[in-house]
Amino acid sequence: MTTIHLDRDQYLELEKIGLGALAPVTGFMTETELHSVVDHMRLPSGAVFPLPVILPIQSAQAQGLECGSQVDLYFHGTQVGVMQIKSIFEFDKKIAAQKVFGTTDPAHPGVSQFLRAPSITIGGPVKLLTRVPLEFDAHELTPEETKRTFNERGWQTVAGFQTRNVPHRAHEYLQRIALEHVDGLFIQPLVGRKKKGDYTPIAVITGYKALISEFFPPDKVAFGVLSTAMRYAGPREAVFHAIVRRNYGCTHFIVGRDHAGVGDYYGKYQAQQLTRQFEGELGIEIMRLHGPYHSSKCDGIVTEQTCPHEMTDPRSVTHISGTDMRAMLIGGRTPAPHLMRDEVISSLRDVPLFITDENLDDQ
Ligand code: ADX
Repeated sequence: MTTIHLDRDQYLELEKIGLGALAPVTGFMTETELHSVVDHMRLPSGAVFPLPVILPIQSAQAQGLECGSQVDLYFHGTQVGVMQIKSIFEFDKKIAAQKVFGTTDPAHPGVSQFLRAPSITIGGPVKLLTRVPLEFDAHELTPEETKRTFNERGWQTVAGFQTRNVPHRAHEYLQRIALEHVDGLFIQPLVGRKKKGDYTPIAVITGYKALISEFFPPDKVAFGVLSTAMRYAGPREAVFHAIVRRNYGCTHFIVGRDHAGVGDYYGKYQAQQLTRQFEGELGIEIMRLHGPYHSSKCDGIVTEQTCPHEMTDPRSVTHISGTDMRAMLIGGRTPAPHLMRDEVISSLRDVPLFITDENLDDQ
């Protein structure tokens, strides 16, 4: 029997497929599925799916593999799944990267990861046999568990919130806007592979625990991490994130400014625009929310919908972004309370804040 040893990202893909988090995807993509997704953002069935879910393997591992055979999938020395091989192929990664990420720039963290992978790819349906314990399991809920939780709480409508950051006041404002419209909020930070300089998972979890426990009604918020790699694919990843949250039982999904973006690769509201293209097809309602900022004149967090000062008195306005907050904290400065809550900042005192070269491979 042939065996393949998965790396952590690949194991997490298998796990998410097995748990139904990536439905309707039921395996690593075949050549036909991959091209359909890359070119049309749809599976061959027509279902919307915007990002590749693939299993690239080293050519030595590919020796002896045949379509129609079964491989055992291992992670950390444990057999975690099986796969029916339906497709063994290579594809032009640069062309695919251009379509998926809108760039082939190797400085883009998602692109560099994508281009670095081996070129032989195998596809076919998988079965998850067992889960391997991982560091943040205690903070994770499966799709079955979230659906049960929402049901038990009597929530008919639930807004999902994706994040890779310690919460700042603009995030919190978006969450409050959502909660004015729905029964419950599911905050689901992503804790898979992220880039150097992003927050560590434990910083995000700790910051959110502090925020939720002190500033939200306990019966209105559920929390659980999502262990999957951040792809930094901006608009396509926003659609992907929405599909995933639908699979966790959310009825609504928040897409704000530069969702899943990095650097200046994507327009501020390009992710929101792409979600419009699939209106009515995603099985989840997109809450497209414009950037909250702080206005000293209005004396609070506001948006351009509710405050004129961005136009009339821009100097009284402070924009709030995760990148700026990280830059302040890296530089040893403390963000002011109208940008990030003191309670959140002090909760972080004893945890490593940022992903460095040393912990980059532990994720
Ligand atoms: S992301 O890469 O996971 O999208 P982040 O944690 O910054 O990054 O964002 C979480 C969600 O909040 C996304 O929907 C994003 O668009 C939104 N968001 C973050 N900051 C702002 C902001 N200042 N204004 C509007 N939306 C924002």
